[in-house]
Amino acid sequence: MSPTPSTELVILRELLAREPGFMSGAALAGKLGISRVAVWQHMEKLRSQGFEFEAARARGYRISRRPSELHPTFIAAQLKGRARDFSVTLLDEIDSTNDEAARQLAAGRAAPFVVLARRQTRGRGRLGRSWHSEANGNLYASFAFRPHLAPARMPTFTLWMGVNVCELIANICHTPPGLKWPNDLLFDGRKAGGMLTEARIDADQIRDLVFGLGLNLNSPAGTWPAELARHAVSLAEKTSAPLDPNHFTAALIGRVLMAYTEFVDGDYLKTFADRWNRLDLLRGHHVAVLQGGKRVAGIAAGVDDSGALLVRSAAGGRPHRFQAGDVTLEK
Ligand code: BTN
Repeated sequence: MSPTPSTELVILRELLAREPGFMSGAALAGKLGISRVAVWQHMEKLRSQGFEFEAARARGYRISRRPSELHPTFIAAQLKGRARDFSVTLLDEIDSTNDEAARQLAAGRAAPFVVLARRQTRGRGRLGRSWHSEANGNLYASFAFRPHLAPARMPTFTLWMGVNVCELIANICHTPPGLKWPNDLLFDGRKAGGMLTEARIDADQIRDLVFGLGLNLNSPAGTWPAELARHAVSLAEKTSAPLDPNHFTAALIGRVLMAYTEFVDGDYLKTFADRWNRLDLLRGHHVAVLQGGKRVAGIAAGVDDSGALLVRSAAGGRPHRFQAGDVTLEK
């Protein structure tokens, strides 16, 4: 059963559905079963949260300004199709959205859902690294699922999500980032995003799954701490204009849900390796892979259907396969 939408959610959904047209206060009141005065009060509340509404005599209202900050109800109002009732939580500050999503799954919250935060105090990356998580217009998101899949299915999950996030960015920004195995999104060698998937496994099944995504959306150029300045880039720097964070996040939720369904159904395997290999930044380049204290150098040769990185060494023979490891580009 879907939850009853809030009045503000219905107002925003109705106004969005009629854009660029208007909707009358009377029609909104009729739809909601409340008075026109009550509609106006809810619109006042939305105004205080960054919206403006244009009013035209005999025609009604339409949205004339959208909030430039994340607004969970406005994200929800833009969800469509099977994502329409997807549950969105936005927190001002949290240690890590991955940790919070895991805590909420453990406490029994119905999945799927997404936890977003304006700022993380202990944002985490792969291999115990930290993820810079200031309140600077960037996205910190953790999607929570209960997939009931065999753990052996997992190695391709982050890679498949990476393909989908890259393709979504390409559609919205008209310039695709590339993927660095297994979890980095880069533009011109600078990191625009990273993914961290964490699972809780019970007996022979994945019980809880959290897909964390940190995406440098709108942080202005020149605002990175010195140690990151040469290595990080935001989508806004690439497009030379800030992105609408609510529009982007709604599109991301739709895309992640679709990708998740294809993953669970197994349909993703039809296109996974080809699509990864098209976005792969390592393919054809000299790389070194560090795994368990061992270093292997060679030429990256894409991934196979199991998500393993293939590396051909100068000695020839079959490529080395890596299911895990830290990769550096050699030249
Ligand atoms: C990496 O590049 O190593 C992965 C970075 C993942 C960062 C995201 S931000 C949202 C979520 N919460 C976390 O603590 N980490 C992920």
